[in-house]
Amino acid sequence: MGKELQFDVLIIGSGASGLGLALQLPSNTRIAVLSKADLTSGSTYQAQGGVAAVLDDNDSAKSHIQDTITAGVNLSRADAVNFTVEHGKESIDWLIEQGVPFTRQGDSYHLTKEGGHSHRRIIHSADATGQAIQQTLIERAKSSDNIDLFQDCIAVDLITRRKLNLADNHCIGAYVLDNNTGQINVFKAGAVVLATGGVSKAYLYTSNPDGASGDGIAMAWRAGCRVGNLEFNQFHPTCLYHPQAKSFLITEAVRGEGGKLLLPDGSQFMDRFDERGELAPRDIVARAIDHEMKRLGCDCLFLDISHKPADFVTSHFPTIYERCLGYGIDITKQPIPVVPAAHYTCGGIMTNQHGMTDVEGLYAIGETAFTGLHGANRLASNSLLECIVYASSAAKHISRNLPKQTELPTIPAWDESQVTDSDEDVVIAHNWDELRRFMWDYVGIVRTDKRLQRAKHRVDMLQQEISEYYSNYKVSRDLLELRNLAVVSDLIIRSAMLRKESRGLHYTLDYPKAVTEPRDTILTPINYEWS
Ligand code: FAD
Ligand code: SIN
Repeated sequence: MGKELQFDVLIIGSGASGLGLALQLPSNTRIAVLSKADLTSGSTYQAQGGVAAVLDDNDSAKSHIQDTITAGVNLSRADAVNFTVEHGKESIDWLIEQGVPFTRQGDSYHLTKEGGHSHRRIIHSADATGQAIQQTLIERAKSSDNIDLFQDCIAVDLITRRKLNLADNHCIGAYVLDNNTGQINVFKAGAVVLATGGVSKAYLYTSNPDGASGDGIAMAWRAGCRVGNLEFNQFHPTCLYHPQAKSFLITEAVRGEGGKLLLPDGSQFMDRFDERGELAPRDIVARAIDHEMKRLGCDCLFLDISHKPADFVTSHFPTIYERCLGYGIDITKQPIPVVPAAHYTCGGIMTNQHGMTDVEGLYAIGETAFTGLHGANRLASNSLLECIVYASSAAKHISRNLPKQTELPTIPAWDESQVTDSDEDVVIAHNWDELRRFMWDYVGIVRTDKRLQRAKHRVDMLQQEISEYYSNYKVSRDLLELRNLAVVSDLIIRSAMLRKESRGLHYTLDYPKAVTEPRDTILTPINYEWS
């Protein structure tokens, strides 16, 4: 029989958004932070380039706002863009106050450049910014008496009052699998926050860690939340291509500092696709690489920074230098083999400026949320910024509106009486593989109606199979992730089918032009409860 634990706030996710929120709530708030594996298991720890914000006197909010809207191909919501950019400097100041060791240049901080930015405005910790932020926030959370950190704890589903047959649909907690004991515990809370990251693991090739399975989006959908713009899956143009290198990114800052994209014959090609060349927004660069790889029938293209002095390369990109050297590639002397890979989920759970979702008491922040900031394509390094800006606004809203704990009803324990141990885990592994492969082939960088229909047909069959499996066997991390991946892949495909134009990250051969009055793709759940 599982345990029941009670907190003021339950935060599902320990990345920049989850810990950013925990640390900005009042110190008398009792907080639980969950991570499905160790505390560094999210994308935050992997982030390389940095955080975008207006920090230089020659830069302006107007310029950052315009770059965000241009990269988002005029689909970003003006209020979300203004709100995020205007809170940029204070978010960076907060990170500095927490102790994040950003790279310095003289008395100030070094700012690097990335695609789509008209100024140097990316503050960073060499090429391992996420690691620096994550470690700093973990240390701060560990030394806070009011924050309890739970590792290897996987939220299975949200508990809403409607699930308990009560009148409203207020979220009051979650069922959580303790991966060490196999028990499912009840976490009760006055407010629940999804800070669960994106769903890039839906694709065969990705820069993301294994846990990026869209759990928050799937849980929120099952609880009754709308989702928005899930067709916009960002592919990062440059992930290392090497048989032993799983998901290793080569930061866009390499191009920002002069790196050139090359064909196998050593010639540059980006100017043929966009006048901004290597520093065009990501959707354009990824599509150009995909196009050239298909045209030439080659497995990868190349990114070359070896024309820069070796000490410049090793001091700006120490992590990439070491990692590539480990694979026998000396980036100070030779080009890096690269391919595009799924990187970021621009859409997600619909939220307002406080991170509130459609379900009362349920918030969503960070990559799992759809705030309207990114439009049809995220501007580089705007994600970590969004994490901290919305962590702060959600913290303020939660602290003003936290209900009294005595109001929480009794929650039934998880019922395992009808299920047995699975004796066929191979089914889960096979379905994982099949899903990620058809998502890559049919719902990837270039789409068509026919490919989307094929994908829809396959995801429907998979969902049926997974649902049967879920009803009959005890849950495991792999099964929970597969179930969530299938739910969100279905939402991605449905969103992609609804968009009859090409815009930003959604490129379809059947509708190659952009429409003049674009709209967000919003999906509404019709069935409010999980099966
Ligand atoms: P994450 O950091 O992904 O954290 C998710 C958390 O949720 C984890 O703790 C995970 O364990 C937990 N979780 C998920 N599901 C469950 C569940 N069911 N139960 C319990 N816990 C759960 N962005 C930038 O702005 N600048 C960059 O330079 C940059 N570089 C990047 C480089 C790489 C390689 C990658 C992959 C991404 C990069 N991004 C960058 C994007 C950015 O890092 C992410 O969008 C951001 O860190 C997401 O933070 P988050 O807090 O929303 O989620
Ligand atoms: C990178 O460093 O290229 C990633 C930046 C981002 O995803 O914003």
